[in-house]
Amino acid sequence: MMQQRWNRKRTHFPLLALFFVLFIVFTILHNERRILRIQQDHPDHLHQHREASITYVKPNLLTYENRAPEVLDRFSRCNSTREYSGRKIAWSESEPKSVHRIESSESCDVFSGRWVFDNTSHPLYNEAECPYMSDQLACHKHGRSDLGYQNWRWQPNGCNLRRWNVTEMWEKLRGKRLMFVGDSLNRGQWISMVCLLQSVIPADKRSMSPNAHLTIFKAEEYNATVEFLWAPLLVESNSDDPVNHRLDDRIIRPDSILKHASQWEHADILVFNTYLWWRQGPVKLLWSSEENDICEELDGLGAMELAMGAWADKVAKMNPLKKQVFFVTMSPTHLWSREWEPGSEGNCYNEKTPIDMEGYWGSGSDLPTMRMVEKVFNKLGSKVSVLNITQLSEYRKDGHPSIYRKFWEALRPEQLSKPTTYSDCIHWCLPGVPDVWNEFLFHFL
Ligand SMILES: *[C@@H]1O[C@H](CO)[C@@H](O)[C@H](O)[C@H]1NC(C)=O
Ligand SMILES: *[C@@H]1O[C@H](CO)[C@@H](O)[C@H](O)[C@H]1NC(C)=O
Ligand SMILES: *[C@@H]1O[C@H](CO)[C@@H](O)[C@H](O)[C@H]1NC(C)=O
Ligand SMILES: *[C@@H]1O[C@H](CO)[C@@H](O)[C@H](O)[C@H]1NC(C)=O
Ligand SMILES: *[C@@H]1O[C@H](CO)[C@@H](O)[C@H](O)[C@H]1NC(C)=O
Repeated sequence: MMQQRWNRKRTHFPLLALFFVLFIVFTILHNERRILRIQQDHPDHLHQHREASITYVKPNLLTYENRAPEVLDRFSRCNSTREYSGRKIAWSESEPKSVHRIESSESCDVFSGRWVFDNTSHPLYNEAECPYMSDQLACHKHGRSDLGYQNWRWQPNGCNLRRWNVTEMWEKLRGKRLMFVGDSLNRGQWISMVCLLQSVIPADKRSMSPNAHLTIFKAEEYNATVEFLWAPLLVESNSDDPVNHRLDDRIIRPDSILKHASQWEHADILVFNTYLWWRQGPVKLLWSSEENDICEELDGLGAMELAMGAWADKVAKMNPLKKQVFFVTMSPTHLWSREWEPGSEGNCYNEKTPIDMEGYWGSGSDLPTMRMVEKVFNKLGSKVSVLNITQLSEYRKDGHPSIYRKFWEALRPEQLSKPTTYSDCIHWCLPGVPDVWNEFLFHFL
């Protein structure tokens, strides 16, 4: 019942296509602007001028000059919008870093490997047997008849992933709060985790709270919860309503993460993501110091960097002995089949097998974003473990719902006659790819 509402999401193909076109145009414009800036920066007087215009903002202050900035919601508006002033987020690690990333602490990089068809080990649960399954992700229920997408196991090069064991996982979670924080991709991973875990808990010993900003699955006998917090842009934004977030403008408070952090700072194990919402064109920034609701406008990557800074400032201050923090890298999309099959004109619709070209990387996974995220994690050191799922998920063009999910608007006849026009090539069917992301989580906990 509630699922119908909380899975509402924009996945309209034409809209998305528009976003991507806008994005590409924007990227080009942005790059031109950058080049211009580099050229302008050359003469000394201009250089000095630019240096002077950069100011650093301390994030996550509860009040700004004794004034509590108004909380953003979907009705918030900018009085007016001006160009980005160059303000940046000031954050620094609280102690010297000992670089201890997942990749380097292991003798083998478990994220590098290949998909193996294995219908004895996978799927790890049955779609119809999970009462918390989402209609957006239940592909078999919505008519998908080729079920091979459920049968792939990830095989790292040179080592093995630990085998999923639900009792062991519950023991790791005993007395703890595991919280997923992010957008609908992260929500898919949360539903996957709940489906993976729920089968061994008797129906009267488990519960799910109604959908809200924070939604909680609870297992009594383990005194443990598996929770999801809707925070698609990590920082405070006008899109923080878990249901109504289809808006024309994205407005964020780049220096404010406390609205969300007040919810997640008490969890023991945290799994964050953020990416696709930054790819929908320019973002409006409403700094907390701004009393008159005057916004600045910045490209998605620049805005994401500010948000990551405010987030990192908070994460850097947490005690790594008490908390485990994971960050899931960008989830790939498969919107243009010409990228893996030159000459074709489709998308993920009707794709039944993974891509077997080693190192395949589609245009949906933005490398400058990956570089920026890396920079943040290098500075955070051991405080965050990166679940680098991008490359391995790139191979899974077969894993998306395409037309086999519930759609929230009635589909028009011209759409129905051309399935590629409304295929969802962003989210992932369950059981499927996000289960494997959770196997990594199990592996590292
Ligand atoms: C697994 O796949 C093999 C080869 O495709 C097939 O012969 C077998 O019947 C399948 N087993 C199950 C349990 O689906
Ligand atoms: C799962 O782990 C439990 C506890 O460690 C163990 O007793 C059980 O045999 C394991 N199950 C499987 C299928 O490996
Ligand atoms: C249950 O877990 C919470 C932390 O999530 C803890 O504060 C509480 O003491 C635990 N209760 C029991 C009975 O172990
Ligand atoms: C901005 O909007 C507020 C109301 O939200 C209004 O009181 C204020 O005068 C406006 N400021 C400017 C500079 O227009
Ligand atoms: C994730 O893996 C890709 C290669 O698959 C690599 O290029 C990238 O740097 C990694 N990202 C992070 C944040 O470690």
